[in-house]
Amino acid sequence: MGQRPVSIAPSWLFLLLSLLLAWAMVSPADSVRSGNNNNSSSTGALYWSTAKEEADLLRNPHARDDSPEAVANDDSDGGFSSLEGMLQWAIGHSDPAKLKKASEDVKRLSPSELKKRQIELKDLMEKLRMPSDAQLMQIAIDDLNNSSLSLEDRERALKELLILVEPIDNANDLKKLGGLDVVIQELNHGDQDIRRLAAWIIGKASQNNAVVQKQVLELGALAKLMKMVKSSSTEESIKALYAVSALIRNNPAGQELFYAEAGYMMLQDILSNSSIDIRLRRKAVILVGDLTECQLENVVKADLPFFSNQIFLKSVVDLMASDDLDLQEKALVAIKNLLQLRVAEPLVLKDFCGLGGALERMSLQLQKLMAEEDVKDYAMDVDSLRSEVEQIFHSKLGKETQVPT
Ligand SMILES: *[C@@H]1O[C@H](CO)[C@@H](O)[C@H](O)[C@H]1NC(C)=O
Ligand SMILES: *[C@@H]1O[C@H](CO)[C@@H](O)[C@H](O)[C@H]1NC(C)=O
Ligand SMILES: *[C@@H]1O[C@H](CO)[C@@H](O)[C@H](O)[C@H]1NC(C)=O
Ligand SMILES: *[C@@H]1O[C@H](CO)[C@@H](O)[C@H](O)[C@H]1NC(C)=O
Ligand SMILES: *[C@@H]1O[C@H](CO)[C@@H](O)[C@H](O)[C@H]1NC(C)=O
Repeated sequence: MGQRPVSIAPSWLFLLLSLLLAWAMVSPADSVRSGNNNNSSSTGALYWSTAKEEADLLRNPHARDDSPEAVANDDSDGGFSSLEGMLQWAIGHSDPAKLKKASEDVKRLSPSELKKRQIELKDLMEKLRMPSDAQLMQIAIDDLNNSSLSLEDRERALKELLILVEPIDNANDLKKLGGLDVVIQELNHGDQDIRRLAAWIIGKASQNNAVVQKQVLELGALAKLMKMVKSSSTEESIKALYAVSALIRNNPAGQELFYAEAGYMMLQDILSNSSIDIRLRRKAVILVGDLTECQLENVVKADLPFFSNQIFLKSVVDLMASDDLDLQEKALVAIKNLLQLRVAEPLVLKDFCGLGGALERMSLQLQKLMAEEDVKDYAMDVDSLRSEVEQIFHSKLGKETQVPT
């Protein structure tokens, strides 16, 4: 197993943080390294303005819009490429209360004390060579590729990768480092938790990332993930469907594979079975919404026949009777798209699926919810979507009945 250098005690982190904050106060001019931010005092202002902002920073330390150089390195062979990168990292690994206290302590320091801290920090930087994300990923990947690794260590390595693949640059590195093959291999593991984590990583790395989508599809993981959706473990199903959705969203090649693997039957089975976990059903109907939207935008390709399949359509319409407002909303989005497809037959939706009645019942239910303070706004939003669907439906029905036979 590779060496594991990052295990930082909280007290140590606190010290690092206060040193870094001191550094940021003393040397504002060279603290803003990157981008268009041309305001020399912005780093200072940014890092101890309000507790709320600090909490925001903390909540999503690895968010995709992090500037790549803010988090450790890209091309260096380890270590932070800048103090700012280190500061970002430390903030991402602290809790908000500590962060606030550190910044308050630092604000009380005199200029000479601040200078002293700055020098201490420079020394510390010299001693400390933090590993880069790529190195951390490589360690996790090597561990996963080791068949004698314990289940516990395997799980830990996967959890590390799960965090590491979140920034888009890291996700793009995964294949190059041999990580995609190794993670896809884990989809066959005997332990369902291992399989679940592997699916989660694949989903996270492919989300809004055409490069990784393509790589995963080429490695043939979609069919495997679709089988996993049928797992008896709800948590495993959910992560598998998350990965399937992330792989094929806005990806025509992925969608073709999905349809070829009878993906719509998979969706129909989930949508029509009310004993299936609501989270899975929501994900399924969101996917229907995404797929139909792609179909609407893709004017060249012929409509797929199952979007006019009565049973399939009814399984979506029936979701409108759910008592879960979120699920109802997602169903409305899907129906709105379905109604606009050329293959959609309004009479089927009216007579076989009972869309008219479903819209009316939903209207009554939403009227009641709109009288409840806590859900009022949400109910109003859903109702305006409902009205929109009703309008499209009636206008299509009108056209239909005018057509002479
Ligand atoms: C594989 O893991 C075992 C147990 O953790 C370890 O002893 C061994 O050195 C590892 N092999 C490699 C090639 O890293
Ligand atoms: C930053 O400000 C300087 C002068 O104050 C200006 O010359 C430079 O173009 C600015 N840079 C950006 C990125 O706005
Ligand atoms: C710089 O900061 C000042 C005052 O804090 C603000 O008014 C100004 O808009 C900022 N400029 C930039 C380019 O962010
Ligand atoms: C996994 O280990 C095998 C040898 O056991 C090696 O051939 C392969 O390159 C390794 N894969 C990765 C991604 O490290
Ligand atoms: C509905 O889902 C439950 C729970 O997953 C399952 O046991 C049952 O067989 C399903 N029913 C049908 C008709 O597929």
